[in-house]
Amino acid sequence: MNTATGFLVSPVTIGSFVLPSPLILAPLAGYTDLPFRLVCRENGAALCFSEMVSCHGLAYRQKNTVDLMQTVAEERPFGVQLFGSDPEHMGQAAAIISTHPVDLIDLNMGCPVRKVTKRGSGCALMKDLRLAQTIITTVCAHTSLPVTVKFRSGWTEDTINGPEFAAMAEAAGAAAVTIHGRTWAQGFGGLADRRVIKAVKEAVRIPVIGNGDVLTYADGMQMMAETGCDAVMVGRGALGNPWVFGPAGQPATLLDRLPVILRYLELSKQYLPVTRVLFKIKNHTSRFLTGLQGAARLRQLIYAAGTVEEIITLLLQHNDSDRDPED
Ligand SMILES: Cc1cc2nc3c(=O)[nH]c(=O)nc-3n(C[C@H](O)[C@H](O)[C@H](O)COP(=O)(O)O)c2cc1C
Repeated sequence: MNTATGFLVSPVTIGSFVLPSPLILAPLAGYTDLPFRLVCRENGAALCFSEMVSCHGLAYRQKNTVDLMQTVAEERPFGVQLFGSDPEHMGQAAAIISTHPVDLIDLNMGCPVRKVTKRGSGCALMKDLRLAQTIITTVCAHTSLPVTVKFRSGWTEDTINGPEFAAMAEAAGAAAVTIHGRTWAQGFGGLADRRVIKAVKEAVRIPVIGNGDVLTYADGMQMMAETGCDAVMVGRGALGNPWVFGPAGQPATLLDRLPVILRYLELSKQYLPVTRVLFKIKNHTSRFLTGLQGAARLRQLIYAAGTVEEIITLLLQHNDSDRDPED
């Protein structure tokens, strides 16, 4: 392990971009908007992805879909994640993405949600390698950006094909792959299987990003050491905890967390239509309080607040030294 960079051997290159550290923020629909991604970048995330973007939404230039690609110079590099099952539409969408300030395109071939899989998208593509391959080659033909592919270990425990899928993706032109070590059948339950992540690493020469159950920086280092993967993607472990991207971890007191929480709120005011998404802002803010004394009461007050300014005042007024622990 190179203790200066955190990489096992040397920094990972995706396309022409060299990752400054091995921890990446996962795409999380409903959560990884621009303010949250910026806070993660500022706290050590090497790279962040948009929430998944529908190829049809892009082809029809739907505003809500296009808005998911919102970025700023400080965030770059920035990856947009695309989902869909029609190669033609996926290619068109990739061409549209390439006209935006975006550094790489990730293809979602791991989403287990029925709304997505019933249309043949997301993890359903792990059952149709030929179609998945056509999508990857078509997308690569429509963009000069590096294309990465995110998938699961397989459909069920009896049909693990992550390594084969990774080899297909590499042959089709992927610049890197992300393997979430759970099957479609597992959904988000059970544990990610690191043996499959290791097998994927052994199956390809392109960089492999391991994903699943990384809750601390140390977990990430351990996943890399155990599987040989080149970098690690953090999903749920980053919610309320952008400190996961640095070796020091999450501060124990509100006072020490406050600068990051206030920064998130400032960025939200700057970049989000706050009145429309106030509930989401409250949700993120509440998650930042996990484990703190008096968090339960403070959360109640935050959810009752009517503006971001009110939330800021509540945080500043809160004295966490004389409250009961929340659990
Ligand atoms: C609320 C939520 C939203 C997610 N949205 C996406 C998404 O848009 N695209 C995607 O590829 N994966 C998505 N995922 C899966 C995560 O990116 C990640 O693969 C999974 O949570 C496992 O990593 P973790 O154990 O670190 O959370 C989502 C997961 C959650 C919990």
